[in-house]
Amino acid sequence: MSLWRKKSITKLLADADNSEHGLKKTLSAPSLVALGIGAIIGAGLFVRTAAAAGEHAGNAVTLSFIIAAVGCLFAGLCYAEFASMIPIAGSAYTYAYTTMGELVAWIIGWALVLEYALGAATVSIAWSEYLNKLLNEVIPYQWCHSPFQTSTDGVHGIMNLPALLILLILSLLLIKGTSESAKVNAVIVFVKVSIVLVFVAIGWHFMQAANHASLLIPANAPPILDAKGKVLYDYSPAENHGWLGVLRGAAVVFFAFIGFDAVSTAAQETKNPKRDMPIGILGSLAICTVLYILFSYVLTGVAPYTDFVKAGKEASISYAIETYMSGFHWLSPLITIAILGGFSSVILVMLLGQSRVFYSMSNDGLLPKTFSDLHPKFRTPYKSNIILFLFVGIFAAFVPESVAGDLTSIGTLLAFVLVCLGIIILRKKDPDRPRPFRTPFVPVFPILGIIVCGAMVASLGASTLLTAFGWMIAGLFIYFLYSRTHSKLHTSHLDEIPPPKENV
Ligand code: ALA
Repeated sequence: MSLWRKKSITKLLADADNSEHGLKKTLSAPSLVALGIGAIIGAGLFVRTAAAAGEHAGNAVTLSFIIAAVGCLFAGLCYAEFASMIPIAGSAYTYAYTTMGELVAWIIGWALVLEYALGAATVSIAWSEYLNKLLNEVIPYQWCHSPFQTSTDGVHGIMNLPALLILLILSLLLIKGTSESAKVNAVIVFVKVSIVLVFVAIGWHFMQAANHASLLIPANAPPILDAKGKVLYDYSPAENHGWLGVLRGAAVVFFAFIGFDAVSTAAQETKNPKRDMPIGILGSLAICTVLYILFSYVLTGVAPYTDFVKAGKEASISYAIETYMSGFHWLSPLITIAILGGFSSVILVMLLGQSRVFYSMSNDGLLPKTFSDLHPKFRTPYKSNIILFLFVGIFAAFVPESVAGDLTSIGTLLAFVLVCLGIIILRKKDPDRPRPFRTPFVPVFPILGIIVCGAMVASLGASTLLTAFGWMIAGLFIYFLYSRTHSKLHTSHLDEIPPPKENV
């Protein structure tokens, strides 16, 4: 029974209102939209668009973006209802605690670690790659790659130092304060959006009709060969062409949307969360969707998608500019610098989101108190930020980007599915609670969210599913060995329904 004990929403809201010693309330609607865009546009757009087009979806990568956006929209509507109704740091984790009970809340919190912590690690690795490109590869291979990677000339990676460096800088910035972080984020977001728009505007004139001749990759597309005539990439497997390719492409580019939900983790620091949360979540999602569709359309119009199997997969914009946009080569290093800034803002919001989820879990007793200790002057969870830096740093330094990236997606999708489910449950169990924002067409929209996100989980592949399963099992061990007995619901009488005697 105690596994299903729930937190009372009324008690939660009362605790949050008593915020004299809590997190500072500094964020407004525009800064929330900026926070969202800051988390959203990053490695997914600048790295994974080209990979999805070249390897799975071809020119229909624009449709892949639309499919992924639809899944995010359904989940985003559910997030908006929750975030406006329960404006508490902790996001999906907190929502689950009030609707589905402690065990499910723990599972979501544990999945969110995959999303935020591994998301930050993934993008810091991409940051390291772009930095090395900007510096003409002066950083020795072994010091900017994980031990699981080997260069074409046989050099083994040792650790990824630049990834660690950017994580350290941003962790220190976060310790200093959310308000300052939000200001830096706003500047970076402006630069990042400008770069996408500049590329779209200039690239539009360099698009070739021939590149857009076919929408889908045909089933009989010839394989891509390397210089020696060896097969480098084969389009014949089902997920590498046609409509299944578009679906697989959606799972790949889904990473590009991760982050809009991070807005909800800042609910407790928002001045007017009831109005601003839905604007922040849905506004940032809408803006990014439009930018992504334009970007992918122009990118595949400027360069044939087959190019992205061999070249330009990581630095796709620079590749397209340098190879096909004569007269604009000077733009390439500027764009790389902007992308570095863009990645930084993604990492920043991911770290912010993770530390706020830890903050909530620790306040609830599921994690040690250290995670919710606030800095006496800055009032930020500084110890949590330091521990998080160490944890994320281990992944950034020693794990390859692709592994961390797919795990990030699966953790996020799992949280999305549970949030959609939570809306259906709460509408039934607590229909009269004021909802400043209501998800339309419940339960149809949440069910569609579960279906679309579930389909993307399925297309991520068996090895990712297995690793994520292992992560969840490890989480369950921690829950039963530590969190269950340290939970404040266990040690006090906060339950809506008092637990049976043996659990008190
Ligand atoms: N959406 C974020 C990115 O693409 C995680 O980098």
